[in-house]
Amino acid sequence: MKTKLPKQFIIALFILAYLPVTWSTNTNTLFPNQNITEGQSLISSNGIFELGFFRPDSTTDSFLGIWFRVSSDTIVWVANRDNPLKNTSGILNIHNNRSLALYDSSGRMVWSSSSNATSITNDFSPFLQLNDLGNLILKNQGSNNTIIWQSFDYPTNSLLAGMKLGKNWKTGFETVLSSWKSSSDPAEGKYKYKMDTEGAPEIILWDRDQIRFRTGMWNGLYFSETTQMLSYRDMFTFLFVWNQDEVSYGFEAKSSSTLSRVYLNEAGIMQRLVWDQDQQTWNEFWAGPKDECDYYAKCGAFSICQPNSVTACNCIRGFEPETPTEWYMRDYSGGCKRRTPLGCTANSDGFYVLKGVKLPDSHNATVAANISVEECRIRCLKNCSCLAYAPSNITGKGSGCVMWNISLVDIKHVNGGLDNLHVKVFKSELGINYLALFYFLL
Ligand SMILES: *[C@@H]1O[C@H](CO)[C@@H](O)[C@H](O)[C@H]1NC(C)=O
Ligand SMILES: *[C@@H]1O[C@H](CO)[C@@H](O)[C@H](O)[C@H]1NC(C)=O
Ligand SMILES: *[C@@H]1O[C@H](CO)[C@@H](O)[C@H](O)[C@H]1NC(C)=O
Ligand SMILES: *[C@@H]1O[C@H](CO)[C@@H](O)[C@H](O)[C@H]1NC(C)=O
Ligand SMILES: *[C@@H]1O[C@H](CO)[C@@H](O)[C@H](O)[C@H]1NC(C)=O
Ligand SMILES: *[C@@H]1O[C@H](CO)[C@@H](O)[C@H](O)[C@H]1NC(C)=O
Ligand SMILES: *[C@@H]1O[C@H](CO)[C@@H](O)[C@H](O)[C@H]1NC(C)=O
Ligand SMILES: *[C@@H]1O[C@H](CO)[C@@H](O)[C@H](O)[C@H]1NC(C)=O
Ligand SMILES: *[C@@H]1O[C@H](CO)[C@@H](O)[C@H](O)[C@H]1NC(C)=O
Ligand SMILES: *[C@@H]1O[C@H](CO)[C@@H](O)[C@H](O)[C@H]1NC(C)=O
Repeated sequence: MKTKLPKQFIIALFILAYLPVTWSTNTNTLFPNQNITEGQSLISSNGIFELGFFRPDSTTDSFLGIWFRVSSDTIVWVANRDNPLKNTSGILNIHNNRSLALYDSSGRMVWSSSSNATSITNDFSPFLQLNDLGNLILKNQGSNNTIIWQSFDYPTNSLLAGMKLGKNWKTGFETVLSSWKSSSDPAEGKYKYKMDTEGAPEIILWDRDQIRFRTGMWNGLYFSETTQMLSYRDMFTFLFVWNQDEVSYGFEAKSSSTLSRVYLNEAGIMQRLVWDQDQQTWNEFWAGPKDECDYYAKCGAFSICQPNSVTACNCIRGFEPETPTEWYMRDYSGGCKRRTPLGCTANSDGFYVLKGVKLPDSHNATVAANISVEECRIRCLKNCSCLAYAPSNITGKGSGCVMWNISLVDIKHVNGGLDNLHVKVFKSELGINYLALFYFLL
């Protein structure tokens, strides 16, 4: 009697025969005696990230990078960004049990990771792993898997969940985003996105050595300009750390299915993008700079920028244009000056409140995080060199104190903004507006 194997059984056999092959290539780990060559890759165990070689459109240059598997042209990290493999194929392995090394086909090393593993001890046995956050980590199995090197410490143009942008005070080590040169060249471009750690910390977008755009200081909920962050608080946890060890910003996704990145593009625009599974595209949740008021210091000192308005710049109450002729010709860069000098006596001055603004450049500001807002007001009033103050944390009723003493630059009206700036002026400048009163009485 002839027996016929059921079809399902044959299919199952096929799958079993192929599975081991699939497993061996779908690994997230590389050991010292192994290589990754073109066509091979590491895949994070959750299947989200892949490390391998890529060639940007229409080039023969090859780079080692990490990308999202749902969108394989979304490169989030590049190893040899300034040193492409030109018309040759690359090999990645663990070099001398210490660091990662990338070679071209002739054996020339084109890139290697730094290593703080100074001496190879007997128990030194490293391995490389692409983790579920897209962090490529070289660990030493011999010492409780301590980290020797990780790609998250050397970002290119993308901030992923779990990464940090900022500075470690103890080591002086800084993590900075830098743009690609062009969409087909990952080499370091001219834009950088970097934490300014002086005064009240904020993130600055640099165009070479010029400030292009500021996010504004962290106010406990969001960066003073980026009110949009309030609208996606349900999807992410924002982590702003400012203590004796570090100043840093990062975020975590609340659901592991949320794919997101904060990305500095070649044109110098920052974007927060979130993967839309249904539409298979990246949706923009935030972008900056976006309007004329985002040009750093467009309105000079002591003035406020109003986006999408004919007269973009207006002097703060109590201030007048430094050079009226230029000002009325719409050249605002000269800024404004005080109309009536401060009295600096017990009862001479008061505060004019600018509501819903992006707080001014805080590089030279003084911060006292643990005093009350009322104490802040008293300190500012008592100190003649204090020109303005704002709470350093607007959560709840508000707390803490930021004081400005040099000039107020780059203030902007922000839609839905929660930051209020209290600007010190001579009391008569706060007086009743007789003209308005006159019209009111009519
Ligand atoms: C890995 O690449 C090196 C060249 O860098 C080669 O000498 C070695 O044989 C390769 N090892 C394997 C397992 O392919
Ligand atoms: C690249 O390599 C191929 C094959 O080795 C060769 O035919 C081609 O001329 C090379 N191109 C360049 C630009 O070197
Ligand atoms: C790397 O470590 C392995 C295992 O400990 C050892 O066999 C090998 O010789 C080491 N290689 C180098 C270059 O030190
Ligand atoms: C590894 O961790 C264990 C337990 O925490 C500790 O006892 C041991 O000393 C550690 N080993 C090394 C090499 O750091
Ligand atoms: C070595 O470098 C890694 C990655 O940069 C870092 O996380 C780790 O703390 C460093 N270890 C030591 C002992 O400095
Ligand atoms: C901060 O202070 C430095 C040195 O006094 C000055 O050059 C710079 O213009 C100041 N920046 C701002 C935004 O006031
Ligand atoms: C504020 O912090 C400083 C130093 O961290 C401390 O000396 C001071 O007592 C604190 N003030 C209050 C009111 O907690
Ligand atoms: C006044 O404020 C400045 C900084 O704005 C500070 O350097 C100075 O010590 C303060 N003076 C007093 C008396 O608190
Ligand atoms: C402003 O404050 C800083 C920090 O306290 C201080 O070093 C600087 O001298 C002050 N400048 C003026 C003009 O008061
Ligand atoms: C801001 O204030 C809130 C409420 O008082 C507090 O829970 C939070 O820790 C503060 N944030 C910072 C950065 O101090």
